[in-house]
Order: sequence, then structure tokens, then C-alpha cells
Amino acid sequence: MSTDNADFAAIVLAAGHGTRMRSQTPKMLHTLLGRPMVSYPIDAALAAGAQHAVVVVGHGAQAVVAALSERFDARVTTAVQEKQLGTGDAARSGATALPDFDGWLLILNGDAAVVTDAPLAELRSAALGGDGPLAMLTATLDDATGYGRILRDEAGNVTAVREQRDCSPEQAAIRDYNPGIYAIEAGFFRDAIAKLTTDNAQGELYLTDLVELAAGAGGVTEVHWDDAEELHGVNDRDELVQRERILQRRLMRAHAHAGVTIRDPESTVIGADVEIGQDVTIESGVQLRGSCRIGSGVTLDVGCVLDNVRVADGAVLKPYTVATDSAIGERAQVGPFSHLRPETELGEDVKIGNFVEAKKTRMARGAKASHLSYLGDGIVGEDVNIGCGTIFCNYDGYNKATTVLEDGVFIGSDSQLIAPVTVGKGAYVGTGTTVTQDVPAEAFAIGRARQVNKPGLATRLKAKLKARKQAATKK
Ligand code: UD1
Ligand code: CA
Repeated sequence: MSTDNADFAAIVLAAGHGTRMRSQTPKMLHTLLGRPMVSYPIDAALAAGAQHAVVVVGHGAQAVVAALSERFDARVTTAVQEKQLGTGDAARSGATALPDFDGWLLILNGDAAVVTDAPLAELRSAALGGDGPLAMLTATLDDATGYGRILRDEAGNVTAVREQRDCSPEQAAIRDYNPGIYAIEAGFFRDAIAKLTTDNAQGELYLTDLVELAAGAGGVTEVHWDDAEELHGVNDRDELVQRERILQRRLMRAHAHAGVTIRDPESTVIGADVEIGQDVTIESGVQLRGSCRIGSGVTLDVGCVLDNVRVADGAVLKPYTVATDSAIGERAQVGPFSHLRPETELGEDVKIGNFVEAKKTRMARGAKASHLSYLGDGIVGEDVNIGCGTIFCNYDGYNKATTVLEDGVFIGSDSQLIAPVTVGKGAYVGTGTTVTQDVPAEAFAIGRARQVNKPGLATRLKAKLKARKQAATKK
């Protein structure tokens, strides 16, 4: 039955309701390390040599299709299962999308989030090398409650899979179970699937009935996999986070082997779409979400939370820097306690200090805002120095406007810039100034009341205030 250069196509069953997730979100779109659940078995199948993957969608189909097209190329397509009539019907729906295919179908569940390509590739070569039309993975658990059990003949060959609800007490004690991952010869599949009936406890079309049919048509090829955990699906949110931990540990190990020091992996979260260069140090409590790109030699100190941020080589993010949809230049220093909101772009050697918030602001090479500032909608030139407590007043309640500080500008502490406003090259804004008009290049702008000192007035004032307080308490 085996063909040498047989094609290999995957069918991923992902139409079920996933009731136990107790969620408005389709089960397949719950994320692990920032990626939808269903993307993991697809990736594993492609990595194991599947040239094509058909994802069978049903519950939440539209959203699942949209998520898949965002992530995958033309190798991944979808087929709709109109009614969830069971795994056999789901697989049949998937196969209709491959009408002329005559290779091997790799069928697996969309919730197999931690399966790698290794068992799938092994299943593939066992299928190609075996005699029968169906190969399947099996595994062993002390308690296989809930899974289909593996039935065998006296010689130990697999003869059938019996679902939990259809098991006799003796069969329910069997520890070998069906993880739900098969390679099935397409011609056999089409003939056999048409023979399925709903004659079982759930009144569904069971894909597992194909095992018995294959046993009588050349035999079942078994690949026993020792690491049962790798083949587990996700049925509820407890399992979701358990599987996510497995994925996270694998990913941390891969980063560590690629030259990243992750000080405390248990407290660190790194998304699956994050890229990290060499010689990066990540301290405890760091979270890297979305598609962060971290350059080489970067330090991410304790508690930094970055979402979709590009950090160039040699930058240092001090503790508790929070940044979203931003870019940080080479050797820039940010934090502690800085907040970079979307569309912030920091150039090389920029310095952003504690309690500085930036939003949609570009800062060119060497610019600094070291303390307590709000920089919203700004364009900041090279080597500009922004003093403590500066505010870019960018919003009038209706519209946003831009503050432009040209190269070499110095903004004294506690200044406000009422946008739209431009401070010309090399200009100097005196401390405590409210800048309402453009400042020409090299000018000095100052806008605050002149100081007057009145000798002895403090002594007289305090005496008066004290007397007033005493008179009030006597009453
Ligand atoms: C199935 C197997 C069982 C195996 C277990 C492993 C059958 C009859 N039983 O049981 O032997 O131990 O998987 O996890 O196959 N799905 C659809 N459409 C449907 C029904 C299901 O797309 O109409 C999809 C689900 O989204 C899911 C997968 O098929 O990804 C498996 O469905 P599920 O209901 O979890 O199967 P089990 O009853 O757990
Ligand atoms: Ca299941």
C-alpha cells in the first residue's frame, strides 16, 4: 500500500465548540505565547513535511479563517464543516478540499498545541514504510479517562479505538490511548469514511472507526510515543496555561542556546513571535509581547513590559520600562519607570529617564529627556535637552498638534510648549516658560513673571497668620 514519493497533506480538525473553554472567543483563537492555538499543529504539520494543510472550521469560522490568512501563506486553506457531526464528518469535510489528492492525509486536532514535528515526521515515515492504509500515534497514561482506548489482538496489533463512553469496564482500564493523530492513505480514507455510521453513544461519525476498518484492510501501523504530554490537546483554560508553560520553556531554552541570558525564566514571558539577538540580558519579570525585535547586546532590566517594540543593538532599558508599538535606537537608555506609547521613535544614544511619558514622538540622535516629562506628538532634533517637568501641550480638547524642537535646543525645566509650536535650532527656553509662539533659531525665550523680593515681609506675614489662627480657636 505504501508509495515511495507519496504526497503528504494535513487536515486539522478545528470546527468543534470547545464548550469547556467557557468563552465567547472561538477555542481555536485562544492564544498561547501570543499565537492562536490552531497555528501550532499547522506549523508542526508543515515542518513534518506536509505540503498543504486544510483546516476544518465551523464554530467561529469567520474569525478563524481571518486569523489563519493573517498568519499563513497559500499552503494553508480552510474547509467548512457545516454541522459538528463528529470527528469523522470533520475529516471528511477537510478531504473534500483535496479532491484529487492521492497521497497520505495527516489528520490531527486543532488543539494539539504542543506537538512538535518529531512525532509527526515519525508517523509519516512509519506510514510510508508500513503495509496498511492507516498509521497512528499511540501513547500511555496511568489514567486515560476521557480518551479513546487502544484495543489489540493477541499479537498486540491495534484492532480498534474504543471511545470512553462506549467502553466496557475492562476496556476503560486500558492505559494505551488514542492521541488523535493519524496518517491515512487518501484512497482508503475516501472509501472508509463513506461507511461510517452514527451507531455509538454520542450519535456522531467517529473518525476512530477508520482504525477498525484499516485493521481489516492491511493492518494498522502503530507509532508509540513516550512523551504523552506532547500529544495532549487543550480542553479548558487550566490546560491552556499548562500547555503554554511547556511552549514557554522550550522557547526560553532555544533563546538561551542562541546566546540570551534569561535570569529567571519562571517570571519571564516571551511571545512566540519575538526575535532576540545575541548577548541580550533579560532580568526577572520582563514581558515581551507581540512581535518585538530585540537587537544584540541589549539589556532589559527587571519588570520591563514591551509590546511590538524594536530595540536596536546596545540599548539599555532600565527597570519597569513600559513600551508599546515603538522603536528604540542603538545605545539608547530608557527608564527606570518610563512609558513609551505608540509611534514613539528614539534615535541612537537618546536618553529617556524616570517618569517620562512619550507618545508619537520622534527623538533624534543624542536627545535627552531625563526626568518627569510628557512628550506627546513631538519632533525632537539631535542633542536636544528637555528639562525636568516639561510638557508638550498637544491637545486642546478637540485636536492634536505637534511640537517641533530643532537640533541643539535647550528646554529649561518646568516649561510648557503649547502646540503647534516650533523652537528653532540652537534656541534656549528659560526655566518655567510657557511657550506659545515659535522661537527663532539661537533665540532665548522666557515667559514668566519677574521676581520681586520684599525684605522682612515673611516675618510680618507669619505673625499675622498666627494671630488670626489663635483668634479663631478662642471663639
Ligand atoms: C477524539 C477521539 C478520541 C481521542 C481524542 C484525543 C474521536 C471519535 N475520538 O475524542 O479517540 O482520544 O480525540 O484528543 O475522534 N471536531 C470538529 N468537528 C466535529 C467534532 C470535533 O472539527 O464535529 C474537532 C474539534 O474541534 C477538535 C477535534 O475535532 O479539535 C477533536 O474533537 P473532540 O471533541 O475534542 O474529540 P474527543 O471527543 O476528545
Ligand atoms: Ca478533545
